[in-house]
Amino acid sequence: KKRIVSGVQPTGSIHLGNYLGAIKNWIALQNSYETLFFIVDLHAITLPYDTQQLSKATRETAAIYLACGIDNSKGDENVGVALLTYPVLMASDILLYQSDFVPVGEDQKQHLELTRELAERVNYLYGGRKWKKLGGRGGAIFKVPEPLIPPAGARVMSLTDGLSKMSKSAPSDQSRINLLDPKDRIEDDIRFLEYNLTLTCRLPLINILEIDVIHVYKRKLVSDVVSFLSLTFAILEFDNLERPECNNLLSIYQLISGKTKGEVAEECQNMNWGTFKPLLTDALIEHLHPIQVRYEEIMSDSAYLDKVLADGAAKAADIADATLNNVYQAMGFLRR
Ligand code: TYM
Repeated sequence: KKRIVSGVQPTGSIHLGNYLGAIKNWIALQNSYETLFFIVDLHAITLPYDTQQLSKATRETAAIYLACGIDNSKGDENVGVALLTYPVLMASDILLYQSDFVPVGEDQKQHLELTRELAERVNYLYGGRKWKKLGGRGGAIFKVPEPLIPPAGARVMSLTDGLSKMSKSAPSDQSRINLLDPKDRIEDDIRFLEYNLTLTCRLPLINILEIDVIHVYKRKLVSDVVSFLSLTFAILEFDNLERPECNNLLSIYQLISGKTKGEVAEECQNMNWGTFKPLLTDALIEHLHPIQVRYEEIMSDSAYLDKVLADGAAKAADIADATLNNVYQAMGFLRR
């Protein structure tokens, strides 16, 4: 079986972007591949951090993986390397475990490119004739991994700004939906979204009259532009570059409901925000509820969680040891 490797940083809450861009796809792939999903704790120490909070967040992230439905190999990344610059650390995560594919969101693409270059370089320098002379198998030391970026969901945008991606570090928690958000929080998050309506009215002789409607609500979809006399306002549509929030919310609905883009486009083509918002809210709550219930169960069974992490770490360490042995030998180091 080909192997896939991926991970999430144990920082902040895991949000819909992490889920739709990565974790949900891991679950779809886990039966076809050998899998290693880790919690990349070493990546979380590049900024000042609280040590107790880090181990707590690592366990919580592991519980989220399990609650989302990851049910075979898992591991806590626990590789004894010093603090390296971030992209190189990520490359070593991947190369150490001889991964064929790496399912990630679009923002990781450039890191994967660096990873591939590093693998090719090491294979070129040490994997050829020199390696054979040493009695090794010859050929590649590292597998050159390929990214698996999902066709939809690879870039989930902020709820309130369709031009920036949903992110753990955005200051407003209301710009994202976290997997563990309770029902009423999700209801409010969607209900209080309001678009920044610009009515454009074209009349003979008067060129363009723009009326900015006063914002009543707390949060705005910043750029929902709607034309007036053509009577297209408030109709929901995918792929209108002037309405990125509309596209994002429809895409989230598509992924979370499991429908196709065509089905959603048809279902929502005559809807306004007032009809769509409860639909999206219900779909999110329905999808996240079983994950949240399972998360609580897992968190209350610490022996189970510890075992999963220990088994995963042992398996990951075996693979990493074999790779490191090869690398040491190919590069002429004595194994320490
Ligand atoms: P991290 O923790 O920032 O994000 C984890 C995964 O979630 C994806 N993601 C998104 N996908 C769609 N829309 C979004 N708004 C969004 N935000 C985040 C990310 O693409 C990622 O797949 N460097 C990585 C962690 C890492 C890793 C690795 C991944 C370290 N070593 C080895 C794969 C293999 C990171 O910081 O992800």
